[in-house]
Amino acid sequence: MSPTNPMDIRQPRTKLQELGIVLVTGVTGQLGYDLIKLLSKDYQIIPASRVNFDITNPKMTMDFIEDAEPDVIIHAAAFTDVDACESQQDKAFAVNGLGARNVAIAAREVDAKLFYISTDYVFDGAKTEPYREYDHPNPQTIYGKSKLMGQEFVGEQLSRFFIIRIAWLYGQNGHNFVKTMLNLAREKEEIKVVDDQRGSPTWTMDIARQIRKLLSTEAYGTYHCTSQGSCTWYEFALEIFKYAGYEAEVDPNGSAYLVPKTQDLRTKNQDLTPGTQNLRPITVKPVTSEEFPRPAKRPTNSVLENYMLQLQHLDTMLPWKESLGKFMRSIDSQQSTVSSQQPKGWNHGQDRQT
Ligand SMILES: NC(=O)c1ccc[n+]([C@@H]2O[C@H](COP(=O)([O-])OP(=O)(O)OC[C@H]3O[C@@H](n4cnc5c(N)ncnc54)[C@H](OP(=O)(O)O)[C@@H]3O)[C@@H](O)[C@H]2O)c1
Repeated sequence: MSPTNPMDIRQPRTKLQELGIVLVTGVTGQLGYDLIKLLSKDYQIIPASRVNFDITNPKMTMDFIEDAEPDVIIHAAAFTDVDACESQQDKAFAVNGLGARNVAIAAREVDAKLFYISTDYVFDGAKTEPYREYDHPNPQTIYGKSKLMGQEFVGEQLSRFFIIRIAWLYGQNGHNFVKTMLNLAREKEEIKVVDDQRGSPTWTMDIARQIRKLLSTEAYGTYHCTSQGSCTWYEFALEIFKYAGYEAEVDPNGSAYLVPKTQDLRTKNQDLTPGTQNLRPITVKPVTSEEFPRPAKRPTNSVLENYMLQLQHLDTMLPWKESLGKFMRSIDSQQSTVSSQQPKGWNHGQDRQT
C-alpha cells in the first residue's frame, strides 16, 4: 500500500510511537476498546474490526496484516456468546479456532509477536483451588473447546506468542454483568443471582495495562491475568450495588434487601453513576446454577491464579473490589451530565462470556 494513499492505514511514526506498530483485532468489543484507548498513548495503533477483515477469511486476514506490517498483534476478536456457541458450533470453531490460526499464520508471515486472548472456560471448573497455567485444560462447552483450539493453533504456528487467559470481564464498551445488574435494578424489584460459581471479576482496562507491561518483553508463554481475589456472581452483584449507591441488609437466608442511601449520605460520584439515578429498593436473592439453567454449563470454579506473572514479578493486577470502584468512578466521570435517561452504550442485555 502506497504511503501517499489516503486510505493507507499506516501513518508516519512519531517519536512516541517508535516503540512499534500494534494491531488490535476485535476493537468494537469490550477488551479491544480499552486496548486502543490505553495503547494509543505509546504506540502506533491499527484498530481492526470485522469491517477491515473477517478473521475466518484467510486471504483477507493475510492481506490486511501484510499491509499493516505490525510489530505486535493483539488478537482479541472472538465469538463470545457462550450459549449461542452451543447451537452454532461451526461458527464457534471457525471464528475462535480457525480465525486464530489465520491471524497466527499472518503474524508469522510479518514476524509479529502475537497476544492471543483466551479464557477460564478451557478448564472444567472441578478444581477446588485456583487454576494455574500448567493445569490441564478440559473444556466443557463448545466455546471453551473452540478457544482451546485457537490456543493450540497459535502454539503450532509461532514461537513468539503470549496466551493471556482472562475471565469475568467488564468494561465501558459492550454488554457485561455490571451493566446488566444496574439495568435490572431499575426494572425489577427482585433480582436472582447465581451464588455457586466463583471467579474473579476483571476490568478490561486492568488487562490492557497488564498487556502493555508484557508488550515490550520477550517473556513469551501462557499467562493467567485476572484481578486478585474472588467472589460469586451474587457477591459481585452486591458490591456493584454498593458502589451504585445502595445500602444492604442481608437476612439469615442470604437474601439482601437493598435501599438507596439517602442523598446526603451518597457521595457525589455515586449519585452520577449511570443507571443509578432514581434508585428504588430491591431484593437480591442468591440462587443455584440449577435454578438458572443455561445452554452452556458454566464452570463452578473459574478462579485463575496469575502464577506466571507473579513468578516473574510482572503482576500488575489489582484486588477486584478496588478495580470495580475505579471502574464505577471512571464511568461516572465520563457521564457526569447523565440524567435518569439511559446513556448511549449502557444497554440492557445479557453479558457475553459469563
Ligand atoms: N467477556 C468475557 O467475560 C471474557 C472472558 C474470558 C475471555 N474472553 C476473551 O476475551 C476476548 C475479548 O472479549 P470481549 O468480551 O471484549 O469480546 P466482545 O465484546 O464480544 O467482542 C468481540 C469482538 O470480536 C469481533 N469479531 C467477532 N467475530 C469476528 C470475525 N469473524 N472477524 C473479525 N472480528 C470478529 C467482534 O466484532 P463485531 O462487533 O463486528 O461482532 C468484536 O469486536 C475474546 O477473545 C474472548 O474470548 C472474554
